[in-house]
Amino acid sequence: MATPEASGSGRNGQGSDPAVTYYRLEEVAKRNTAEETWMVIHGRVYDITRFLSEHPGGEEVLLEQAGADATESFEDVGHSPDAREMLKQYYIGDVHPNDLKPKDGDKVRSYYFVFSWAYWIVPIVGAILIGFLYRHFWADSKSS
Ligand code: HEM
Repeated sequence: MATPEASGSGRNGQGSDPAVTYYRLEEVAKRNTAEETWMVIHGRVYDITRFLSEHPGGEEVLLEQAGADATESFEDVGHSPDAREMLKQYYIGDVHPNDLKPKDGDKVRSYYFVFSWAYWIVPIVGAILIGFLYRHFWADSKSS
């Protein structure tokens, strides 16, 4: 087993716990063989080397994901609560904060972007519409 690269706090020190060992993804990616198999599931790093031969879904599918983020494949299979419980015994640390996907942050930013436009567009379109209707009915009432 390789020496873990305990890399301390993240760039901004956010969310890093001194009790947790953090691994860079490049470090995880090196453990992609049957001799040493690590994988990432939901931002956590697992050393599943000794689990390979015990996996009910077979060794092959695990080796395909070795050294990588297997979150999607793990969830796609719809693993049971027992399987999730088993993960704990293979847990060795967390993905380094700098390597975490900024998925949720991106979502928040894109919602903000869309809504910030909506705040402008809705009143402007509304005002144009009201102006149009007003002129239309005003012209109608004048001509009759
Ligand atoms: C360390 C992580 C994993 C653990 C602890 C684990 C555990 C298990 C367990 C206990 C089962 C039996 C069914 C259940 O209880 O859900 C199972 C089935 C299975 N697993 Fe995993 N698994 C892991 C990762 C993966 C990954 C990354 C894949 C990728 C494709 C995978 C694919 C499957 C498949 C195909 C089955 C068979 C499902 C079936 O026959 O219905 N597993 N796994």
